[in-house]
Amino acid sequence: MKANIVLLPGDGIGPEVVSEAVRVLDVIAQKYGHAFEFTKRLMGGCSIDAQGSSLTDETLKACQQSDAVLLGAVGGPKWDDPKAKDRPERGLLALRKGLQVSANLRPVKVHPALIDASPLKPEKLQGVDIIVVRELTGGLYFGAKKREVVDGHDTAIDTLEYHDYEVQRVVELAFQLAATRRKKVTSVDKANVLESSRLWRQVATSIGKEHGDFTLEHMLVDTASMRLMTSPASFDVLVTENMFGDILTDEASVLAGSMGMLPSASLGSGGPGLYEPIHGSAPDIAGKGIANPIGTILSAALLLRYSLKLGREAQAIEKAVEAVITDGCRTADLGGTLPTTVMTDEILKRLA
Ligand code: IPM
Ligand code: MG
Repeated sequence: MKANIVLLPGDGIGPEVVSEAVRVLDVIAQKYGHAFEFTKRLMGGCSIDAQGSSLTDETLKACQQSDAVLLGAVGGPKWDDPKAKDRPERGLLALRKGLQVSANLRPVKVHPALIDASPLKPEKLQGVDIIVVRELTGGLYFGAKKREVVDGHDTAIDTLEYHDYEVQRVVELAFQLAATRRKKVTSVDKANVLESSRLWRQVATSIGKEHGDFTLEHMLVDTASMRLMTSPASFDVLVTENMFGDILTDEASVLAGSMGMLPSASLGSGGPGLYEPIHGSAPDIAGKGIANPIGTILSAALLLRYSLKLGREAQAIEKAVEAVITDGCRTADLGGTLPTTVMTDEILKRLA
């Protein structure tokens, strides 16, 4: 098949890990007879520097017209000025909104050989296999914001707003995913305090009623953050609001031994998907060639599965990644010494 993939390497280690994922996709294309065409564009801090905007209209349009978008990471100390008009993160949020990718899938699986890389007790990590579905285009991230002076005090307002249809589509997706797994959905909210969470729970409950043979569990976000550490294997699909999902997925990444391992897929209603590792731009190790490329390589696998419907090819990549970990290949984040490119070489050997 033919596919047009936009690459947004971004900042920090982004370019280093995206180029590794492209090497893997090139091998897949060759092996299975596909033609992937890559278009590289600037987004994030590098785009502010070169084009005066973290996301230009042209870049957004190119992404919208593509089959899928593969992103590295954005941000860094250079663009951290709180007074700046534009920030790398603004580009990322505008891209998510512009592509209407309202659900962000973050699978968290513990590879048996990486159990020691996690600070949790090994027995807690047995059988951990979670998909977090994070709502991505609503909630606190996109509500009205304001800065004003009230009675002489600097005052800031962020708004947490949800419409029923926004909750509905993401919870429905969670059930669809659970149908192919253990048929358990945990809907995470703060319904004891927040009105938006009471709406969330109401919508989730009514969708749950249409799925009688599933287990739907409601959990408060503070409890969920504890349970992710005390009984992570009890989760199957966890669905939640944008900000809660941001926080809980960083926490859940501890289970997998390193954030560097974890991919994500952002999906909407039929348009191009957006694929990115969950880690950030890691400016402290940028340019050193030691970043773990696996999060981005697994994101490329999700791209094949969800956007291009190439499940067999996606699985081939996932199997090759599992094999390198089983065989003891480790980048620095996993306590090893393998450079980024050598880790990819090892994956490619096992793809062949
Ligand atoms: C993530 C990141 C982003 C987010 C930042 C960079 C805006 O933390 O993808 O989890 O908060 O969504
Ligand atoms: Mg985050």
